[in-house]
Amino acid sequence: MFARLSLVCCLLICTSAAGAEGVEILRNNCGGCHQQSTPGHFARISDIRKSPEGWLMTIFRMQHVHHVQITEADRDVLIRYLSDIRGLAPSETTPARYALEQRPNVTDMTLPGDLQVMCARCHSAARVALQRRDAGDWLKHVHWHLAQWPTIEYQQNARDRLWWQKATTEVPEQLGKLYPLSTAAWDQWRARPHADLSGTWLVVGHEPGAGDSWGTATISKAGEAQYSVTYSLETAKGHLAGDSKAIVYTGFEWRGTASLAGRDIREVYAVSEDGQSMSGRWFEADHAEIGADWVAVRATEAQIVAVTPAAAKAGATTRVTVLGSGLTGSVNFGPGTRNKVVSKDAHALVIDLSVDSKAAPGYRELTIGKQHRADSLAVYDRVDRVDVTPAFGIARVGGGKIDGVAAQFEAVAYRDVADASGKTQPMRVGVLPVTWSVQPFNEDAKVADDVKFAGRLNADGRFLPAGAGPNPQRKFSANNAGNLSVLATLDDGGKPITGKAHLIVTVQRWNTPPIY
Ligand code: HEC
Ligand code: HEC
Repeated sequence: MFARLSLVCCLLICTSAAGAEGVEILRNNCGGCHQQSTPGHFARISDIRKSPEGWLMTIFRMQHVHHVQITEADRDVLIRYLSDIRGLAPSETTPARYALEQRPNVTDMTLPGDLQVMCARCHSAARVALQRRDAGDWLKHVHWHLAQWPTIEYQQNARDRLWWQKATTEVPEQLGKLYPLSTAAWDQWRARPHADLSGTWLVVGHEPGAGDSWGTATISKAGEAQYSVTYSLETAKGHLAGDSKAIVYTGFEWRGTASLAGRDIREVYAVSEDGQSMSGRWFEADHAEIGADWVAVRATEAQIVAVTPAAAKAGATTRVTVLGSGLTGSVNFGPGTRNKVVSKDAHALVIDLSVDSKAAPGYRELTIGKQHRADSLAVYDRVDRVDVTPAFGIARVGGGKIDGVAAQFEAVAYRDVADASGKTQPMRVGVLPVTWSVQPFNEDAKVADDVKFAGRLNADGRFLPAGAGPNPQRKFSANNAGNLSVLATLDDGGKPITGKAHLIVTVQRWNTPPIY
């Protein structure tokens, strides 16, 4: 329903300073209803700070509800402008970034006290936490909720308390203190020049179900706060090329439209305050639930960035790749290991790593010449436990205009090891190959044969839900919802070790805003 931040138009027209253009658009497209009191200060608009997605949602609402006319190109310029002058400081976004990154199956943050039930029953708490206003404007926002949805008090169990009385008295006061318009973090961030991100970067991604990818990103400037990127990546399955066009809002909110091995991808990254690294998540344009964690660091400084895979079994030889800069000198993975460098280029060493069968299980420090990286590799002899993540997943049946939503699971193996004080701690071995299966979660699910109807789990741990709508084959022609256990079974040298998660296959979601 909502257009994702669209970059293409903007790339064509944002060559001049977005500032002057931004004010002009505000005056022409918004000023009719939002009075300009002093130059550049527009009623309501200038009293709020939010994320680029937050601004998009508001302007979309202005279009949808108040019939505001604005071209997509002007809207893009306006979102850039408003995010720059009325945005959030990096630290203000930290607790709720998962919402911007559209991470599936995360547990929402909790607002303090009664705010949680007052404001986070219909939508995420993150939606609230990604805005800043004073008490007076939070109050206006409550009034808008009521005006737009007069039945709000009867919804979402709000009647278990005096919702309206609270929402118009203590709630705006609390929000004004918790998320005020003016903060030191924002003042300091606004005063800082924005980092130029062009250059060579080393990147590491992890896509649940598909594994790690690593390599370089060559970033070049393509206009004010705009970049184009060429990716050269490796995966366990081979080389992967890609490119991206990105806008950096507020000096740190990287939003890219990318193509990775032909997949249509959206990138949501935060640039670190010092401009030396980026982190976040990329996901498929049409299926935000499918995506990868992502980290990028500038390739300039000599450093070991990552080792993949980050585990090696005792008594075996494992081919690992070390990603970094200035990787010269002798390589040492610590006690009980021997290594042979198979190939080497400017940023990667491919190594055959042999671990003695008697090597003690534990994390190893990696040394390459003068560089060290603690806990680079987990040496393990056996697996003690398999965790399936997410522990609780949601999939949605699909069909018609609304695609199904898949649930991607991953099996992470652990070996218990003693720490320095002799206490047993789980050591993360990482993602290992497993056999996936589903079972009914309880007796009801068994009777209704949810395993047969709700969908299927593929060999990569991805649950693909069945079609939406009534199913005449089911009792009462029920839909294809289901309540399942997801099992991952690892074969550890002949010994099966099973991990388990819970999966709910539920109904479609009709509304997919950028922030839930
Ligand atoms: C036709 C009149 C009209 C125009 C034009 C208009 N708005 Fe609004 N705007 C409203 C009304 C009415 C409200 C209060 C009700 C609401 O929030 O929907 C509002 C509220 C807002 C708010 C406060 C929302 C909140 O989160 O509490 C913002 C921000 C805003 N508008 C931005 C804009 C921008 C940006 C434009 C220009 C692209 C614009 N508006 C154009 C009528 C308008
Ligand atoms: C009964 C359901 C409900 C409750 C309770 C509720 N909201 Fe909302 N809220 C909505 C809906 C629906 C929207 C969607 C607006 C849209 O997508 O255009 C929304 C949108 C928002 C937005 C984003 C809108 C924008 O333009 O900036 C914020 C922020 C927000 N709510 C804060 C709050 C706060 C704070 C409270 C507690 C006082 C609250 N909500 C309680 C239903 C609710």
